[in-house]
Amino acid sequence: MDYLQITGGTKLSGAIDISGAKNSALPVIAATILSDQPVELTNLPNVVDIRTLLKLLSILGSEVEHNETVATVNNGTMNSTKAVYEIVSKMRASILVLGPLLARFGECEVSLPGGCAIGQRPIDLHLKALEAMGATIEIKGGYVRAEAPEGLKGAKIVFDKITVGGTENTVMAAALAHGTTTIVNAAKEPEIVQLCEMIASAGVKVEGIGTSEITIEGTGQKPLVFKPVEIIPDRIEAGTYLCAAAITNSTVTLNRVNATHIQASIDKLEAMGCSFDINDDVITITSSDRLKPVSLITTEYPGFPTDMQAQFMAVATMAIGESVIEERLFENRFMHVSELNRLGSDIWLKGSVAAVRPVAELYGADVMATDLRASSALVLAGLVAKGVTNVHRIYHLDRGYDNLEGKLSALGANIQRLSE
Ligand code: EPZ
Repeated sequence: MDYLQITGGTKLSGAIDISGAKNSALPVIAATILSDQPVELTNLPNVVDIRTLLKLLSILGSEVEHNETVATVNNGTMNSTKAVYEIVSKMRASILVLGPLLARFGECEVSLPGGCAIGQRPIDLHLKALEAMGATIEIKGGYVRAEAPEGLKGAKIVFDKITVGGTENTVMAAALAHGTTTIVNAAKEPEIVQLCEMIASAGVKVEGIGTSEITIEGTGQKPLVFKPVEIIPDRIEAGTYLCAAAITNSTVTLNRVNATHIQASIDKLEAMGCSFDINDDVITITSSDRLKPVSLITTEYPGFPTDMQAQFMAVATMAIGESVIEERLFENRFMHVSELNRLGSDIWLKGSVAAVRPVAELYGADVMATDLRASSALVLAGLVAKGVTNVHRIYHLDRGYDNLEGKLSALGANIQRLSE
């Protein structure tokens, strides 16, 4: 198994390119199921989760050509609608094939994803939405079996809770449904916007893109013909490198970023004393040697993202004063706290709130990654910790960060990938 070895204390400098967004590429790949023609995808991040979802499509009979950041997917040859446990258990986001498979073929079986390190993560809202659209759903033998032999019907879906994946599954299902679907309390993340625009550019009438009420006129099971899709920049990857600059008191430039998508992170880093120079899709951050404490609460877009909570906690360990961080989306997304404390931070947890108290220094140690963003927080802490930090179980990082050690090395960090 690989691990990352980081010798802390080096300032970063220079520029790197931000990759395509994993969390946009995944629903975009799932949406290709709505078509029986080849679809070209560019600016894919070169990460394991993308390879996993493309592999699932191949298992279902699709023709997939994939080379690092580009892929052509032809789902015209798909001959199975069963998303098997072996793949779904590796990646929860495989549940995103449920809506498009059901909408196009009128039936499918998808393994139940189960819980994960950050929380229970139920899919009840995905299922309720599809049932409201006329699907019959049964859970048996660890699989969700969904049927709608006459196709899905447009419906008014009111989500009790804002759900990114639930909104995505419903948008995809609605695209091929008979009639009009309205999604109320829809998620507004940039990844949802990209998915809706992809579907709209195939000729489907989609209204309210980027708002909490989306209306979609379905094609009545007529497959879509997509234009090539270029994946948007990864706002969480960009935010993570901003945090890398902040924690090491450095000046770093990020190319190919959408500043609007990371406004919440920029605002918090500004409040901590960092300054920004933003020019189109290029952002330069300059940190401060006296970072101020931060107070943040995770919430849905455009609020502060849960996917940046762990990285900000790492930065907060270097602030002068006590920071308060509240996690409102996932009940168990503080697994990084005990690992950060192994590096010498002083973080106290009470329920969903963490108090990060100032410490003079962090010290290198062996730490274990528990989920994707927790892992990147440990890497960030390793960049400032005195001595050597070994971050183990980095397969979590490989799922979602494209060439993390290569990009950090290019900025001057002392980081290398080794084998246990
Ligand atoms: C997406 O997960 C992202 N994953 C997550 O990123 C991200 O943390 C999350 O959205 C929130 O922004 C992908 O896009 C592939 P949700 P998703 O449904 O869609 C509850 C990362 O690190 N809920 O918006 O699974 C749920 O438990 C990952 O890249 C239900 O109760 O998140 C949570 O509390 C991790 N029932 C809240 O809603 C449901 O049916 C939001 O979850 C669905 C969700």
